[in-house]
Amino acid sequence: MKIGIIGQGYVGLTISAFAAEYFEVIGFDNNSKIVEQLNQGNSHIEGVDSSILMNWIKAGRYRATSRGSEIADVDLVVIAVPTPLTLERKPDLRFIEAACKTVGENIKKPVLVINESTSFPGTLRNFIKPAIERFSDSRIEHLYAISPERVDPGRSDFNQKNTPRLYSGLTQEASERTKAFYSKFCDNLVEVSSPEVAEAAKLFENTFRQVNIALVNEFAQIAHSLGISVYETLDAANTKPYGFMKFTPSAGVGGHCIPVDPTYLAAVAEEHGAPAIFIRRANEVNLEMSKYVVDRVATDNGGSLAGKSVLVVGVAYKPNVADVRETAAELVIEHLRRRGAVVSWHDDVVGSWNGESSAPLSGADIAVVVTKHDDVKVQDILGSAPYVFDTTGKVPGAKGL
Ligand SMILES: NC(=O)c1ccc[n+]([C@@H]2O[C@H](COP(=O)([O-])OP(=O)(O)OC[C@H]3O[C@@H](n4cnc5c(N)ncnc54)[C@H](O)[C@@H]3O)[C@@H](O)[C@H]2O)c1
Repeated sequence: MKIGIIGQGYVGLTISAFAAEYFEVIGFDNNSKIVEQLNQGNSHIEGVDSSILMNWIKAGRYRATSRGSEIADVDLVVIAVPTPLTLERKPDLRFIEAACKTVGENIKKPVLVINESTSFPGTLRNFIKPAIERFSDSRIEHLYAISPERVDPGRSDFNQKNTPRLYSGLTQEASERTKAFYSKFCDNLVEVSSPEVAEAAKLFENTFRQVNIALVNEFAQIAHSLGISVYETLDAANTKPYGFMKFTPSAGVGGHCIPVDPTYLAAVAEEHGAPAIFIRRANEVNLEMSKYVVDRVATDNGGSLAGKSVLVVGVAYKPNVADVRETAAELVIEHLRRRGAVVSWHDDVVGSWNGESSAPLSGADIAVVVTKHDDVKVQDILGSAPYVFDTTGKVPGAKGL
């Protein structure tokens, strides 16, 4: 069986690497630089080893392409393209639409189309299927299914194999063929009654995280105002063996999922006249954390940051990855600069970002830790400036949330 995987980023390349053990995989990406790099056996994604990619290339089981015609004879297509927000913070399905165009214009026989991209309930039925049909010159009865991706890049305990995977087809045959595909490399497949349930479950998972993170971020502010430790209080609450789940405060949430997916749920809720108050407010609380952090740093430093050299430590959105999408560090830096601070950042995992490079971990007046990678030593952080503010709870001895 030949598989076409549209989008060779975090999700698409990860699936490609797993699927290539059982199928011939064509990785389609419209970024020709990524394609060139992948065909040389160089992975740009944490969790996909270049050596594994090279093995599949040499065995003739994987190749990347930007030419739509190369997916013409596949039997199954997986869509794994970005689903960001527009400037007005509305769901942006442009990339999905473009992927549908590639499928519609190039595939002339019935295949199974599985969407792994995160989107609101109804996307498979009311957007993807009609779009592919619109872009095909003849009416082809493809099968359609959804299996939202849950991969957590950089995580080693849960991966494609052992993370339960939800799926549902628009027809029974689509569900059965989806199960047959994923059961090759996933241990636990969970069928739900409709694609809409699978789509909504994915959004709700990330909304649950977003709301709980906002709650703990609000609680961090309450704890500080009461003069008690937020971490000690959370640890104390966490001794309850049921009914509590510990989340930790931070400078905000980043990454492609948690700041974005809940807005997809809120948008579809509001379109149907249902409330999305928690979801909207949680997003605001998380966004406001960067300002709260900078206010605290300013207060501790005599009220003014003008002319002070401030080093932001860790700009990736989470530890041990190079991904800076929606990182809270961006807002922290913006607030620091607004207050007149001279800001640089240190993150050797990210290396370069926004036209700037990682600065040495030393010599600043103030350091603000936004993300702590495992390789960065606490002692080195504490030595980088006379005043260190930690938002991660991982730098004992620093000031912090
Ligand atoms: N990254 C994660 O941790 C994660 C986890 C679960 C779900 N998701 C979801 O999976 C989807 C993909 O996310 P990602 O993190 O892999 O994104 P990504 O940005 O890492 O990769 C997307 C890739 O798609 C390519 N692309 C864009 N438009 C294309 C098109 N029309 N045709 C072919 N290629 C195209 C881009 O060049 C890029 O290489 C999103 O909906 C995301 O929300 C991501």
